[in-house]
Amino acid sequence: MLKLNHQQCEDSMLTFLNNDIVVIGAMSESGAIGNGDGMPWNVPEEYQHFVDSVRDKTVIMGRRSYDIFGADFDADTFVLSHTAEIAGATVCRSFDDAISQAKQLHKTIFIAGGASIYELGIPAATRLLLSTIKGDYHGDVSFPNFNRNEWEVVWQEDRPNYILRDWRRNS
Ligand SMILES: NC(=O)c1ccc[n+]([C@@H]2O[C@H](COP(=O)([O-])OP(=O)(O)OC[C@H]3O[C@@H](n4cnc5c(N)ncnc54)[C@H](OP(=O)(O)O)[C@@H]3O)[C@@H](O)[C@H]2O)c1
Repeated sequence: MLKLNHQQCEDSMLTFLNNDIVVIGAMSESGAIGNGDGMPWNVPEEYQHFVDSVRDKTVIMGRRSYDIFGADFDADTFVLSHTAEIAGATVCRSFDDAISQAKQLHKTIFIAGGASIYELGIPAATRLLLSTIKGDYHGDVSFPNFNRNEWEVVWQEDRPNYILRDWRRNS
């Protein structure tokens, strides 16, 4: 694990900078992120961590995920959809449009899934804030593979039902 300097320690204690672009998500030990219209586990404290992290920040997510989770959190939200119109969120027809509109708000941007949005978001991200849920869970959608050589865990915390890791890009 990378050793943090003082500034990085400050940054990593789950504080977020306005120019951070953070992929946030939870996955099983086998990489599953979802099953049908939800997640294959019931770990409310991990979901609360997500809700708390994105509060008053900016979120980009796919239309399916917004249908499932959109009512639960309070953030400026950009939803990717080819056709939908959604009250209470800004709909974008491409990831590039979503990220460029999100940047104009000058707040931390969270990229919050699902799978294809994570895939589009990882190349743009500065941080990956990923929870690994303890236990044997399987689903029908998985977190995309990412090149772990480009990333390093700078901070992690072993919580009762999940491990939270803060990954940063290797400089
Ligand atoms: N564990 C976690 O942290 C986590 C987080 C989020 C979601 N999930 C899980 O993931 C699953 C949902 O994810 P998903 O991957 O199936 O769906 P999703 O990514 O949430 O949404 C897919 C939709 O996003 C739109 N979209 C995707 N790429 C686009 C693009 N390039 N341009 C414009 N629109 C685009 C399309 O909407 P239209 O069909 O409207 O065109 C597409 O059908 C659920 O099981 C959910 O529980 C888990």
